[in-house]
Amino acid sequence: MEKIVSLCKRRGFLFQSSEIYGGVQGFWDYGPLGVELKRNLKDAWWHDMISGHNELVQCDGAPSTHEMVGLDSTIIMHPQVWKCSGHYDLFHDHMVDCRESKKRYRFDQVRGRWCEHRDKKIFVSTLAEMEQEEAEVRRRAMKFFKLRPKNADELTVGSESLTLDKLDSTTDVLAPESKTLDTLTEPREFNLMFKTTLGALGGENDTTFLRPETAQGIFVNFKNVVDSSRVKIPFGIAQVGKSFRNEITPRNFTFRSREFEQMEIEFFCHPDESQKWYTYWRDRRLAWYKELGLSDELLIMREHHKEELAHYSVGTADIEYAFPFLPEGEYGELEGIAHRGDFDLRSHMEGKLDPSTDPMTVQLGENGKPKYKGSGRDLSYRDLETNEKFIPHVVEPSAGADRGALAFLCEAYTEDEAPDEKGNLQTRTVLKLHPRLAPIKAAIFPLVKKEGMPEIAKELYGELKQQMPAFYDEKGAVGKRYRRQDEVGTPYCITIDGDTLTDKTVTIRDRDTLEQTRVKIDDVVAEIQQRIS
Ligand code: GAP
Repeated sequence: MEKIVSLCKRRGFLFQSSEIYGGVQGFWDYGPLGVELKRNLKDAWWHDMISGHNELVQCDGAPSTHEMVGLDSTIIMHPQVWKCSGHYDLFHDHMVDCRESKKRYRFDQVRGRWCEHRDKKIFVSTLAEMEQEEAEVRRRAMKFFKLRPKNADELTVGSESLTLDKLDSTTDVLAPESKTLDTLTEPREFNLMFKTTLGALGGENDTTFLRPETAQGIFVNFKNVVDSSRVKIPFGIAQVGKSFRNEITPRNFTFRSREFEQMEIEFFCHPDESQKWYTYWRDRRLAWYKELGLSDELLIMREHHKEELAHYSVGTADIEYAFPFLPEGEYGELEGIAHRGDFDLRSHMEGKLDPSTDPMTVQLGENGKPKYKGSGRDLSYRDLETNEKFIPHVVEPSAGADRGALAFLCEAYTEDEAPDEKGNLQTRTVLKLHPRLAPIKAAIFPLVKKEGMPEIAKELYGELKQQMPAFYDEKGAVGKRYRRQDEVGTPYCITIDGDTLTDKTVTIRDRDTLEQTRVKIDDVVAEIQQRIS
């Protein structure tokens, strides 16, 4: 993971936000190559799910044909949205404070191990990255028990790495930045929404929030979309955009950030069909990650147990990836696919529903009136063919663009061997990104800076640049130029050499196979276009 993080900084994929001021935790800036990668990922999603979807053809595994449309709603919405959605009351994490260090931690994210010296057993925790976790626990335990290196074998460090929420009590815990035991408070709830105020004179009633998900913008626009675009159920509304969560312990590079982008679909269907659509979307979304290059062995679909589901839901599944910062056998969520029943539309219509009631009823406040009033707008749907009126059920495939980009970067990072100019094998770092995701599609090199080669190369570069992101490089040995492009995932390098001057052909080198083929210079643009499509 350290190598990936260092490559990302060195080659301009990702920088820590406000780095020159020491950075701010949980915020990341995408550099010149990172922005292209993330944009390519979002564009691939938008094309494959929405703009390229043919509503006249039934997709494999889908119960029927369906329509897909897009939306771009605001980040700040009416405060009532978050009350009816449940985020105001329920969107929280459990955190603990350390009385000694005055630091705050997310309860389910602090890791550690049981350590034993003579008869004393303590749980030593740390915030160290997974790769250093065991060594750091050992170092802290040695210090706690005042052991010298020569007495290291008097200490037993447990083989299992656990998070604090798995312990029965925190009495025997050595908190990550404390010197004594039992310094953690009981876990408390902490709402993850960022608060903000509307207007210069804003009071308590003008408090609203930066959206923690893009989904609610879709629900509150359901009626607008139906009335304005003639879509018929089943159909999906999709949105890509920023979401904000005041995560207690942002970590693992961009995996858990405080500002991130989501790619969400709310798919509206007839209640009788929702189970089939849930299955369709679960399988379709998993296949999409594989089509773009995530390997089968590192991906899993984790179905939530029946007990974890709200009674109105027929299923929720997470697509998870074995990120390299996680311990062996653990996976991190890339996307959730949830069957949400009619919870969201009814809550925005009638008032926030109580999800524990069956059938669901509006949650009441102490005065016996709805705790959070809905909009009062009719968000039901009338099928004009059958004349049936119903509140659609929703299937929600909700993906993270930053987590997606990170997974594709981790998957692509490879170290292998390639021959240098003299034919000697050298270790090379290469990002084996799918050509659709690669920030630069082709690089153009004149072999030497003379004999008219740069002029031919620049002309070809101009033509390619009209069609795709390309890069021109005439500096240094050609082998070095190849390496620079391999490191950022450029799938093809085109070299103009001595033969070009006589037979008007160039070489195209394939990043992954290292195969070099000669192609007529006039055919290069079409050839590269065909290879990356
Ligand atoms: N509307 C449903 C929803 O927001 P979620 O599981 O909370 O569901 C969906 O979020 C996706 O958004 C996650 O699978 C993940 O990819 C991404 N995501 C959530 N929190 C994130 C964070 N703090 N940093 C980066 N990505 C995050």
